[in-house]
Amino acid sequence: VIWSLARQKSTATEMPLLRLESDRLILRPPQQGDWEDWAKVRAANRQYLEPWEPLWPPDCLSRDFYRRRLLRQTRDWRDGRCYGFLIFRPGTADELIGGVNINNITRGAAQFASLGYWLAEKYQGRGYMHEALSLVIDYGFDQLALHRFNASCLPENNRSIALLQRLGFSEEGFARKYINIAGAWHDHILFGLNRDEWSGAPATA
Ligand SMILES: CC(C)(COP(=O)(O)OP(=O)(O)OC[C@H]1O[C@@H](n2cnc3c(N)ncnc32)[C@H](O)[C@@H]1OP(=O)(O)O)[C@@H](O)C(=O)NCCC(=O)NCCS
Repeated sequence: VIWSLARQKSTATEMPLLRLESDRLILRPPQQGDWEDWAKVRAANRQYLEPWEPLWPPDCLSRDFYRRRLLRQTRDWRDGRCYGFLIFRPGTADELIGGVNINNITRGAAQFASLGYWLAEKYQGRGYMHEALSLVIDYGFDQLALHRFNASCLPENNRSIALLQRLGFSEEGFARKYINIAGAWHDHILFGLNRDEWSGAPATA
């Protein structure tokens, strides 16, 4: 795991130059130049992702929607509210294959955050999300001084549940009509991982 030294404070229009790297992946905050690849991979995976995500607005793949989303994400980075990352397979042209978000960061006596994530369908089953989340969890505990990550899944999302369990998350509860997914309020299984339960990202996946 390599922490990039190229870090800078983000302004309202600028993301930090942060990169998290593992053997097979690069994670970094989104940039305006990612819109075309982002829209392409989201469009290609729409059917596969929609059942697990909040409702996609009608213009959600447009350049303007992306620009507004990026502005909000940049402010969130600056204010320490949420940290969004895109996931790339490195190559001559890095390939965008998914995303991870550290959401709902709560400071004070809580020091916790929740995780959201998605992967292009053709890269499922290769351990990529396990590798990406390991980097992000390391970052959250080491660099953001978080004490805990929360995550929640639809009860039928077996892949996501298995992923959280492999990462060491414990099932802690069940919340009725917890999050609006695909346009309706859905029950979720709640998972948690505390800092002292985390053994660190594996050097290789
Ligand atoms: C949830 C999601 C990210 C899980 O992806 P995933 O690829 O199953 O997760 P992992 O990265 O942990 O990969 C695990 C699989 O890779 C396999 N694998 C192959 N090579 C591997 C390697 N080098 N290291 C680890 N696992 C490897 C594992 O055996 C496992 O396969 P299996 O599930 O067939 O047994 C993906 O299904 C997804 O994006 N779903 C849609 C959106 C979504 O549900 N988001 C979460 C909402 S709560």
